[in-house]
Amino acid sequence: MAKSRSNKSRKPDARSKAKRQAPAKSQVNESSRGKSNKAFSLKLEDLNAQIAVHWKEEEHIPPPASFVAQANLIDPGLVESFREENFPECFRQYADLLDWEHYWHTTLDTSKPPFWKWFVGGKLNACYNCVDRHLAKHKNKAAFIFVPEPEHEAPQVLTYRELYVRVNETAAMLRDFAGLQAGDRVTIHMPMIPELPITMLACARLGVVHSVVFGGFSGEACGLRAADSGSRVLIYADGYWRNGKWIDHKGNADIAIETAKKEGQEIDKVLVWRRYPRKASSEAPMVMGRDYFVDEVLQDYAGKVVGPVSQDSEAPLFLMYTSGTTGKPKGCQHRTGGYLAYVAGTSKYYQDIHPGDVYWCMADIGWITGHSYIVYGPLALAATSVLYEGVPQYPDAGRPWRIAERLDVNIFHTSPTAIRMLRKAGPGEPAKYNYKFKHMTTVGEPIEPEVWRWYFDVVGKGHAAIVDTWWQTETGGVLCSTKPGMDPMKPGSAGPAVLGIYPVIWDENRKEVKPGQNAAGNICIRNPWPGIMQTVWGDPDRFTKQYYAKYCKDVNSTDWRDWPYFAGDGAMVPADGYYRILGRVDDVINVAGHRLGTKEIESACLTVNEIAEAAVVPVVDEIKGRVPEVYISIKPGMKPNKQIIDNVTQVIETMIGKIARPKRIHVVPDMPKTRSGKIMRRVLAAISNRMHTGDITTLANPDIVEQIRELVQGRAATPLQEGPADIKLFGEEG
Ligand code: WTA
Repeated sequence: MAKSRSNKSRKPDARSKAKRQAPAKSQVNESSRGKSNKAFSLKLEDLNAQIAVHWKEEEHIPPPASFVAQANLIDPGLVESFREENFPECFRQYADLLDWEHYWHTTLDTSKPPFWKWFVGGKLNACYNCVDRHLAKHKNKAAFIFVPEPEHEAPQVLTYRELYVRVNETAAMLRDFAGLQAGDRVTIHMPMIPELPITMLACARLGVVHSVVFGGFSGEACGLRAADSGSRVLIYADGYWRNGKWIDHKGNADIAIETAKKEGQEIDKVLVWRRYPRKASSEAPMVMGRDYFVDEVLQDYAGKVVGPVSQDSEAPLFLMYTSGTTGKPKGCQHRTGGYLAYVAGTSKYYQDIHPGDVYWCMADIGWITGHSYIVYGPLALAATSVLYEGVPQYPDAGRPWRIAERLDVNIFHTSPTAIRMLRKAGPGEPAKYNYKFKHMTTVGEPIEPEVWRWYFDVVGKGHAAIVDTWWQTETGGVLCSTKPGMDPMKPGSAGPAVLGIYPVIWDENRKEVKPGQNAAGNICIRNPWPGIMQTVWGDPDRFTKQYYAKYCKDVNSTDWRDWPYFAGDGAMVPADGYYRILGRVDDVINVAGHRLGTKEIESACLTVNEIAEAAVVPVVDEIKGRVPEVYISIKPGMKPNKQIIDNVTQVIETMIGKIARPKRIHVVPDMPKTRSGKIMRRVLAAISNRMHTGDITTLANPDIVEQIRELVQGRAATPLQEGPADIKLFGEEG
């Protein structure tokens, strides 16, 4: 591999590093701990009340014998080797799945908690590990099979050799035409087309840090992220097919550039991949000297080869922006060595990928699932990974099963929302097609047991082992899942912790909620692991505060045991040790498995001139799990009207994207508030979900609650559900 250019001043985390020298320990003090306790405590009470009313234990189902006979993870010795007494050295086994240019000397460095370092001293290149090293044995094997949404367009196969050629040409263009080098950040706003992973891998080849923004996000959302990451190059696609419609995407780049500029970030180049090379498919004009069609530029780089730039194990590989508890999304910064090792290991043992498998993860690469389990994990194992452009139910609910039949997919990976949708639209469709899955995954949100059973019986036809994988953008890879060939499955539960992960559930006072206690608490991971993010891009204090302040035992300690990771999810664990994730305990809503921040939506609403206050709450939805519902109050002297409501919807779509579109918008005379003026969102959530509001006597304005209820539910309100609002547990009907 070629040596990296050393250019210390361009180091991507230069900004954060200064602050990092004096770790943000000052943030982890008693006062901040007390504060977060207060914010979260009510939520756990809600979860507990739900458990008391709705808790139902589900049965254990053994994995099919045919699956077990071929499973990668079946050796009890291997499982044993990941026990806590072997931590952190156990993760050597994951690191050894990779090719290192220079082998590392220290598995885990804990000297600056919580900024852990993994496989210290190692040098490697992620693209080399995902592409080059497979050429000797697998050059003619399909790396990606791209399935366009229009059914008349045939699937396109990209072999490892072809991927190598295209990644090299793209890397040459990024380096020599766009002037990018190791440590620079680049923002990629693209749909599910092969050029997306090609661009990511080309960045990784150069050590350029990619920041992929989900294609469905708006231009403005992209611009904000580009500005935060300090990208001066944007990579776009002209358009794509979605649900039978051509989406003209390039125009978003122009909005992104304007937005970034307002934030003080100049974008000087936009590279536009064309879905149909040499054909104009977008209405948006190209700006001379700024916008370039990639297919034209690439003509100068045909056949160019670029040596993979050797990277420190700790060099950042990518940023992935995700929603949190504030209005501003945070850039989760993932490292090269630890991340790649972790996704390779979990892909091997939990996705059970073998050389001959055809693996299809239906997520979007614009989310973490796509990064870890469409691109980096599967390619590190030389898998064949299917890339589907469109929506699952286009043109009908049989489409996924036709794709599976045609490509002979045998590992299938999707979200509960997609499963619910396909079950509703075509419950009998899978039976019509001749495919056979050996393994299936669900990810992103809790799955109801009855939906799980349809997945197992009808989609999997009883042949497939299912893993319900719980994890997060921050965690890089899976944290809880059954071992598909060793553990029985349990509908609705993620299962035990995966290899090398040691969770605990604590209540607000750090008292352990023990297995079998039938109570909810905050799930935490007691140890670091190689896949955990390094920091929040440009804001290390936020990293410490958000994930470690709550349960840190001793801010002066350099022992990892004192720094448990707070995940932000409520969970419970019965006596069998299978974790059941109950939902977020913060201001994050999972809409159709996509993560949105209520605060981001509220901030968008407040940009509408007439709006005085806005509150966003999650409402249970039969298909999407949760959807946002918006409450607004109008400034004094202004009258509510339809135009205002339309403006709110419009502004949410332009600032965030269509996925954040609210189900309903309620204009209320006032918000229910505490005496200190805080909006009581849980009371609003109770009303939206037609549940009891709980004790409201401490509100500053308790009378408003009945008024809002009448307004939202009408006088003939349907009977209230048992238990307080917000979280509907599995097994509830309707
Ligand atoms: C939720 C997606 C229940 C959880 C990989 C988490 C789940 C958030 C599951 C992270 C699961 C993810 N069961 N809930 N199997 N998987 N979640 O960052 O609330 O987009 O905190 O990462 O999704 O969403 P994110």
